[in-house]
Amino acid sequence: MLMNRLFPVHVAQFDFDEAFQTRVRTRVKRYLESARARRDIAGSPTDVVDTSYFSGRSVLADAGLEELRDAILDAARQYLDCFGAGDMPLAIEHSWINLFRPGMQESEHAHEGSVLSCSYYVDAPVHSGDFLVPDPIGARRIHRTFLGLSGHTSDGATGARFVPQPGRLVMFESWIPHAVLGNKSDDTRISIATNLKRR
Ligand SMILES: [Fe+2]
Repeated sequence: MLMNRLFPVHVAQFDFDEAFQTRVRTRVKRYLESARARRDIAGSPTDVVDTSYFSGRSVLADAGLEELRDAILDAARQYLDCFGAGDMPLAIEHSWINLFRPGMQESEHAHEGSVLSCSYYVDAPVHSGDFLVPDPIGARRIHRTFLGLSGHTSDGATGARFVPQPGRLVMFESWIPHAVLGNKSDDTRISIATNLKRR
């Protein structure tokens, strides 16, 4: 039998070393103590997360995260290489910080209008909320759930969960729906989110 696995959903992971993690975390912590962060980070009006998204500011610039910015652009080139488009000129469109305090979560959404999106985990305590990608083909998800096909093998899955880890960047096409499950730990999960656009 030849089984053709058609139309995969691409979610890439990149792991950065401890020295990189420490440099980024130091700058993020300094930023979080600044008046700018206190001004720009607020509760989302539509979800249960504290975020600088609605400030319109760029946290990569405001927190001095040039090294992370360059790593994101390099990761994007590697990602697009899978499509034979690694030379597509990209730029940072928007970047923001998300603070998931205990009990916080983010419902399913997508970042329509951008090319690629990603999350870099600065702090990710155990059980602080997996990154969830439901099967974007709704009819297939319902069909498999109804027939009890899900859960036997990865081919029958109705979604995928990614456990956040400090120093990990998760990148995906911006149209892909995703969610962040509830933070069940006693500490805050900190991530930097970025949208990339065509330059
Ligand atoms: Fe998102």
